[in-house]
Amino acid sequence: MRNFKNTLVTGGAGFIGSHVIRRLLNQHPDMNVVNLDALTYAGNLENLRDVEANPHYSFVKGDICDAALIKQLFEKYRFDAVVHLAAESHVDRSIENPMAFLETNIMGTAILLHATKNAWIGSEGDRCFYHISTDEVYGSLGDEGLFTEDTPYDPRSPYSSSKASSDHLVRAWHHTYGLPIVISNCSNNYGAFQFPEKLIPLMIRNIRDQRPLPVYGKGVNVRDWLWVEDHASAIDVILHGGADGRTYNIGGLNEWRNIDLVHALIRLVDAKLGRPEGTSMELITYVTDRAGHDMRYAIDASRIEAELGWKPSITFEEGLAETVRWYLANGEWLDSVTSGNYTQYYETMYGNR
Ligand code: NAD
Ligand code: TYD
Repeated sequence: MRNFKNTLVTGGAGFIGSHVIRRLLNQHPDMNVVNLDALTYAGNLENLRDVEANPHYSFVKGDICDAALIKQLFEKYRFDAVVHLAAESHVDRSIENPMAFLETNIMGTAILLHATKNAWIGSEGDRCFYHISTDEVYGSLGDEGLFTEDTPYDPRSPYSSSKASSDHLVRAWHHTYGLPIVISNCSNNYGAFQFPEKLIPLMIRNIRDQRPLPVYGKGVNVRDWLWVEDHASAIDVILHGGADGRTYNIGGLNEWRNIDLVHALIRLVDAKLGRPEGTSMELITYVTDRAGHDMRYAIDASRIEAELGWKPSITFEEGLAETVRWYLANGEWLDSVTSGNYTQYYETMYGNR
């Protein structure tokens, strides 16, 4: 097991990053965690209110493309681990504005890798650059099969191709410069603090507000859903125990067709709000399909289970019920992140539906 004293987390004010920071501070009380986040539309310090007073936690507002800033941070904090989550993360936005994805996800990762490599030259003790990636780098599955760590890369969207590029860069810095790295590729996450441009929080919000529920295409695309706190626990396990240079797939063995998931959310939200069963079914609106829409993602997570003993801690039924409960109880969070630019984004994507 590796041991780290000073960890740089990038993108910690986002959805997954905020859960990772909470997890690291709770599980490793001696670890200092610095959160570097540019606070784009997706970053929100509200996601970390409960840890901001922790003396082991610091926040720095900044961009991973700022090489001088990263160098300064390494000098100041002497990081021995980097957990890199900062990214542009939404496929639909990548279709609208691909260049921002190339800048942050590819150039940002390269800048961070290079600064880390320079800072760690000649250093001793445990070191790890941990790159958080997605199963979308593997492309799209038909009805059968699962993505393994050996599945050839075949990204289809500007988002997934920018993440694939960043994975290649991380391996290149490992092979060329000897940078200690691990990579994980995870399936779709769900849970508290997810920006409501993604399927599950968007649907919960629209069911709550009785607005149309935009289902892309025929609603038959399949995703493998994992509770975000289980992703955070997997990241903790890999950071401390993953083999140098190795890749781990993380998933929930939990495949759902989008339309079935929307039905499940309608049942849960309507029940929680005391509405008669099926009230919100009529809100389902089939809209134009996403360009290049990947049909199916599904992860074979047997390596992380066999080598590191990790598996999901809760069922989807438990996780989804808890997630619906959280969003309905945190209506203020939902409303505050959807004020301002979100309205403009929503109109661009969905018109006035
Ligand atoms: P998110 O969009 O919620 O958060 C991204 C965070 O990165 C935000 O806080 C944002 O402010 C920050 N950021 C963006 N550009 C930055 C920059 N240039 N410099 C510094 N900070 C910047 O994303 P998420 O869903 O939490 O995803 C986190 C990571 O996990 C991403 O790398 C994503 O590719 C990966 N991932 C996500 C999922 C998922 O289902 N959400 C699944 C697998 C992998
Ligand atoms: P999303 O949450 O954007 O994740 P990803 O594209 O990274 O898998 O979308 C999950 C699935 O839901 C995907 O097949 C697209 C679909 N979808 C809709 O049908 N309607 C929506 O409004 C959104 C946001 C997604």
